Amino acid sequence: MNETMSVMKEFLQMPAETKQRLCSEGFSMKDCRLITSSITYATEKVHLWRDCLKHPCHPLEKWQHIWPQIPARYQERIGACSVEVKKLASRILKLISEGLGLDGEYLEGEYSQFMTLSANHYLPCPQPDLTLGLSKHADPHIITLLLQDDVYGFQVLKDDTWLGVHPNPHAIVVNIGSQLQVISNKKLKSAEHRAATNSREARTSVVFFIGALEESIIEPAKELVDELHPPIYKPFKNKHFLSKFYASNGDSQGTLEIFKA
Ligand code: OGA
Ligand code: NI
Repeated sequence: MNETMSVMKEFLQMPAETKQRLCSEGFSMKDCRLITSSITYATEKVHLWRDCLKHPCHPLEKWQHIWPQIPARYQERIGACSVEVKKLASRILKLISEGLGLDGEYLEGEYSQFMTLSANHYLPCPQPDLTLGLSKHADPHIITLLLQDDVYGFQVLKDDTWLGVHPNPHAIVVNIGSQLQVISNKKLKSAEHRAATNSREARTSVVFFIGALEESIIEPAKELVDELHPPIYKPFKNKHFLSKFYASNGDSQGTLEIFKA
């Protein structure tokens, strides 16, 4: 985790032109992208105070070669971390499946074949009360594992109040994604969160999103649906959900409404 954070900071602190040269021009989930604010920069009403590197990271053999080649150890170190994060996610998903009364493998395979790395860099902001690093959202996929450095900024919404999640060295923040809320037929709820900025220090987070392939169908697990518990959501394709989510600039509640049964 220390090495992941240090190599990522080294990458993010390079000049914008150098970073841009190491990324592609493409804008799909299959590219290595460098963005400012969000992927909907051109249409968003409010810009965010962040830079972000995104690229797919599972399976490693398929994607590692499109990652930045500088710093020289980037591919090796981030590759090693991705493998460990995927293993940990699998263990957590197995326990969640069992906790829901589903087969232990239920959330493995199809629902967790894709993993995206998203590294956020929040520079010191002269007026933190005017902007956010990331505005309120729930992550749209199945599950998220988040590594943060020692700078405070992550906040989670509980009972209409923003609570700070203070960085704890070597702890990983685990978020339930909106699509796991759907699969569990709302037995599990995705957590809304955001990132605040500060005027003193830069902050870095390295986030791994685990989810399904674009064409996968997401729906409430049959085992969790009966006459007393009708399905709350209708089946949808992962890519349709994601495009609605991004088009809404991260309005997770609004996106889930669209797919209500
Ligand atoms: C995210 C996210 C929070 C953070 O990338 O989806 O919620 O602290 N990040 O960077
Ligand atoms: Ni998030």
